[in-house]
Amino acid sequence: MKTIVIIGGSSGIGRAVVEQLLEGDNFVLNYSKNATSKGILDQKVVNIDFDVTTEQPLPQLPDEVNGLVYCPGSIQLLPFKRIQSDVFVKDFELNVGGFIRTLQQLLPAISKVENSSVVTFSSVAVQRGMNFHSVVAASKGALEALTRSLAAEFAPKIRFNCVAPSLTDTPLAERLLNTDQKKQTSADRHPLKSIGTPSDIASMVNFLLSDKSRWITGQVLHIDGGLSTL
Ligand SMILES: NC(=O)c1ccc[n+]([C@@H]2O[C@H](COP(=O)([O-])OP(=O)(O)OC[C@H]3O[C@@H](n4cnc5c(N)ncnc54)[C@H](OP(=O)(O)O)[C@@H]3O)[C@@H](O)[C@H]2O)c1
Repeated sequence: MKTIVIIGGSSGIGRAVVEQLLEGDNFVLNYSKNATSKGILDQKVVNIDFDVTTEQPLPQLPDEVNGLVYCPGSIQLLPFKRIQSDVFVKDFELNVGGFIRTLQQLLPAISKVENSSVVTFSSVAVQRGMNFHSVVAASKGALEALTRSLAAEFAPKIRFNCVAPSLTDTPLAERLLNTDQKKQTSADRHPLKSIGTPSDIASMVNFLLSDKSRWITGQVLHIDGGLSTL
């Protein structure tokens, strides 16, 4: 049985990752802001309330960890002229600072296991320049670079990869998808003419956690209906 730590497994893509993990031989620790009220109730899941923007230590740390998935992120779409600089700092803190603190605490447990795997989340807005995406692009670009750098530093012991979705139907994207018209317009922008589902993205995350991806590290996987490149 593998032990997987997921930060943000109560909602959206993270929740779909947990659902897929429960189909296999996995034990999951879900640390989210509202994990005990929103997390999946199952004998193989422990839900722990935790806010990654605090300096508090992660409670109930396991001794050995096979995989870590870091989900917290934001979608703040604003014209650059209207953004106060502290918005960039707060977004970086959630996307990058929280991941760094989480990983530093879990490294001893992750290092004990062969072929362990860490997965972070970027966005299509890093590979492709988009209007009003400067906040998310800055944070996620840093997270992509950090993930690649860690992959080099911790090879061959720990694999690090980053998944970069385009618009996916989750609570985070609710404001962009809350009418049929918005959904259709967003779907039409993608070469594959649909937006993503949490399960589309979770399938890649679970592949990256599994031994089937044992020769993959330092990559950014674009799961985006073709939007980043076509
Ligand atoms: N959805 C998209 O269109 C899209 C597109 C590109 C990239 N992404 C990226 O994909 C990742 C997952 O997105 P999603 O759409 O699944 O988001 P989501 O539905 O908002 O889920 C995020 C999860 O992270 C947890 N979380 C948020 N802030 C936290 C904090 N400070 N401390 C601890 N946990 C926290 C939430 O906890 P609670 O549920 O307990 O509140 C939730 O479980 C994000 O990094 C996002 O930037 C998403």
